Amino acid sequence: MASILGLAQELLVFLGKSVFIVLESLVFTFIPVPRKKVAGEIVLITGAGSGLGRLLALKFARLGSVLVLWDINQEGNEETREMVQEAGAAGAYAYTCDCSRREDVYRVASQVKKEVGDVSILINNAGIVTGRKFLDCPDELMEKSLDVNFKAHLWTYKAFLPAMIANDHGHLVCISSSAGLIGVYGLADYCASKFAAFGFAETVFFETFASKQKGIKTTIVCPFFIKTQMFEGCTSSFLPPKLGMLLAEYMGAFNFMDGFTNSKKKD
Ligand SMILES: NC(=O)c1ccc[n+]([C@@H]2O[C@H](COP(=O)([O-])OP(=O)(O)OC[C@H]3O[C@@H](n4cnc5c(N)ncnc54)[C@H](O)[C@@H]3O)[C@@H](O)[C@H]2O)c1
Repeated sequence: MASILGLAQELLVFLGKSVFIVLESLVFTFIPVPRKKVAGEIVLITGAGSGLGRLLALKFARLGSVLVLWDINQEGNEETREMVQEAGAAGAYAYTCDCSRREDVYRVASQVKKEVGDVSILINNAGIVTGRKFLDCPDELMEKSLDVNFKAHLWTYKAFLPAMIANDHGHLVCISSSAGLIGVYGLADYCASKFAAFGFAETVFFETFASKQKGIKTTIVCPFFIKTQMFEGCTSSFLPPKLGMLLAEYMGAFNFMDGFTNSKKKD
């Protein structure tokens, strides 16, 4: 009897919380959520020497963050450091780091902890693409993809997450890809590495959530093509919305369920 009461109580709490969450999300549909304040935060961006990493660094600089920039390309990274300083960063530190090498990640991470402090926003952005079909891709290149695009995330989290937990304050950002959600022709190793990065970041999110580490936030980003040097020369087509609707109609997307028999059986 007691256990039935316990179950009923658990169910009621679950239903109450569910209603609250639905109402909360309805409210935030109309009232914009306040933006996170990042002034003074120590933001580490891997792959900051070009492309998306550089753009992110500039954005954080304008918002008054302290930037810790990592890249294997010393020259590009130094250029970013100068740019973010000009843009108003509260501090800018460039470190040459080969994120595909675990020892390098740990070595540079402890240097950062001594010289700058505890990283509070970690953005795993460094990435490479081989762009060859699976059987044409040399083993070493496939290993490199996984090392840079995925395994580096393990080592950086190991290096910086404990202090975030101790301070109950931190944000983990994983730059995955739309190729981390669906397989893409000619990108077998890239897709595998991006799926892995996604799965890993989501799992850490669940672990911190379940441990009630409320100060630790997680963001996973899955971009489509961006105009950087990474996918230079690649093209994709976007259908005009009206054409998209026409195609959907032609494919029967608006009538998919018309012949559904299961509900009729129940009637
Ligand atoms: N460009 C796109 O269309 C696109 C789409 C989806 C996801 N992404 C992802 O966005 C992220 C940024 O890509 P981008 O487009 O800015 O590419 P990019 O090539 O311009 O920048 C990648 C940066 O990572 C650095 N890097 C490469 N190997 C490294 C290593 N071993 N250690 C440290 N740094 C290293 C490079 O030097 C470079 O500065 C990547 O993770 C990429 O997979 C890009």
